[in-house]
Amino acid sequence: MTDVQRSLVLVKPDGVRRGLSGEILRRIEAKGYTLVAVELRDATPEILAAHYAEHEGKPFYAPLVEFMLSGPVLAVVVEGHRCIEGFRSLAGATDPTVAAPGTIRGDLGRDWGLAVQQNLVHGSDSPESAEREIGIWFADLGA
Ligand code: PPS
Repeated sequence: MTDVQRSLVLVKPDGVRRGLSGEILRRIEAKGYTLVAVELRDATPEILAAHYAEHEGKPFYAPLVEFMLSGPVLAVVVEGHRCIEGFRSLAGATDPTVAAPGTIRGDLGRDWGLAVQQNLVHGSDSPESAEREIGIWFADLGA
């Protein structure tokens, strides 16, 4: 039996703006994962600098941060066995145009022809990232 994991999921500003938060939470719960914390909040440059530290210097970094500041995000802590890998499977490929149908990005996302890629959700990519990211967004929760 694997340990119960926690993952930091963000419904990005495009998902919140398009009214998809409920649908995305529904898919997470329908998979059988538990919502441990859910908070609608405005990101700050400080939070995003910490959250996306590993991507600083990449070409998409500045537009990504600008996009993430363009409206509120829904920050969610998801819990369940292997939920880190499981949520990334639910989310689908980073590029919503090629994300498989049946996934959040494949069913609900698309390329809007904008400079910045909008792909609805973020999910932690490892237990170490999850612990770090949950600490950034929910200082009162352990991973
Ligand atoms: S990498 O370099 O392979 O680690 O990058 P990747 O995992 O594909 O993406 C890391 C995060 O950057 C986002 N990203 C972008 N956002 C906006 N525009 C463009 N062009 C772009 N390219 C990558 C991607 O959605 C990932 O964000 P998160 O929040 O981690 O899902």
